[in-house]
Amino acid sequence: MEPVKIGILGLGTVGCGTISVLVRNAEEITRRAGREIQVVQAAARSLKKKRDCDTSGIVLTDNPEDIVTNPDIDVVVELIGGYEPALDLVMKAIENGKHVVTANKALIAVHGNEIFKAAQEKGVMVAFEAAVAGGIPIIKAIREGLAGNRIEWLAGIINGTGNFILTEMKDKGRDFADVLAEAQQLGYAEADPTFDVEGIDAAHKLTILAAIAFGIPLQFDRAYTEGISNITREDVSYAEQLGYRIKHLGISRRVGDRVELRVHPTLIPERRLIANVDGVMNAVLVKGDAVGPTLYYGAGAGSDATASAVVADIVDVVRTLTTDPTNRVPHLAFQPDALADLSIMPIDDVETSYYLRMQVQDKPGVLADITRIFGEQGISIEALIQKEPAEGANVVPLIMLTHRIAEKKMNSAIAQLEALDAIEGKIMRIRCEHLDSNWT
Ligand code: HSE
Repeated sequence: MEPVKIGILGLGTVGCGTISVLVRNAEEITRRAGREIQVVQAAARSLKKKRDCDTSGIVLTDNPEDIVTNPDIDVVVELIGGYEPALDLVMKAIENGKHVVTANKALIAVHGNEIFKAAQEKGVMVAFEAAVAGGIPIIKAIREGLAGNRIEWLAGIINGTGNFILTEMKDKGRDFADVLAEAQQLGYAEADPTFDVEGIDAAHKLTILAAIAFGIPLQFDRAYTEGISNITREDVSYAEQLGYRIKHLGISRRVGDRVELRVHPTLIPERRLIANVDGVMNAVLVKGDAVGPTLYYGAGAGSDATASAVVADIVDVVRTLTTDPTNRVPHLAFQPDALADLSIMPIDDVETSYYLRMQVQDKPGVLADITRIFGEQGISIEALIQKEPAEGANVVPLIMLTHRIAEKKMNSAIAQLEALDAIEGKIMRIRCEHLDSNWT
């Protein structure tokens, strides 16, 4: 049988990793796919740049249009990243009847609905395993492996850079900026590193996971996103004293006829496996009603790890080239005409426990004021640490853990507390989740 012909858009870290993996494991990949896979053309911004992969035998071009219009190419692999020109190129590839494999989470999270609609009309596939958690086959696990379940919730460490920063702060007491610079050097961080530290990258990935878990359209603009740039070494250390780790989590949960979609720093009990996922590694915890909690762990970024997912998608596409398009696994796991219109819950209505850190004056009656305000809002305190004042200081750090309460009630309590003379400055608030198997 004729080899399947691939065109690659983008010869950066993942593009070169994909070429290397396809060459290195060519024999096994062909045995799996049933056909030889040949990269015939690749587009890169600069043709002069030295590459980390062997491009001999591949026609190189600096015009990506050449690839999406090349009649010989069956599958276009989009590894440029970002919204434009990736969107335009992917839409043109689909228009020209080509299947698409992409690692582009921003593109899928924001434009996925229109891309899948166009692909469905044209009868082509758009595969995006590498868009979420790099090499971990989490899309396949949720979309196919858990297809018998009603998914209740999922929670993931889905940004390696953020996890690397928090891990280094905890283990070595390093500064935020210093660790971020190292992650950039290692090639894990996004082109704009605020996407990593402010949670945008994680929100892109969470949006995709929530859509396939609950069978809802992609709704990136409804995701609540909070980054890790305010987390201090003190918070990391107090959390540890309370038996928790701080992780930057993406959480999506079905609550009645609404879905939570939120990315924020989160305290989780240190005994949870996911609390021990360190460095640039990613992990996603998925709770299905039948299977219970399941955990998927692995490299969330990097050349070969991401290429692992890209190549798996290429193999998937090759295997199903001849199947009737209506019998393929649907892009968003559920049949396109059977998506649910569950609404995304506003963060004000979300209930979590809270870690609070405040600077209070060390004088009688302060705790009474604080507990009165909590009592009025129905907030119950679970644990409390008050440190001795430093030599000569009259303010002390007060750290609390609360029971679960709606965000709007906590906001109202914090506003009242910050208005007290006895509380100095802003109150630090970090949400806390226990992620136990009974959580529904
Ligand atoms: N910037 C991303 C991360 C790369 O740090 O996880 C993989 O999507």
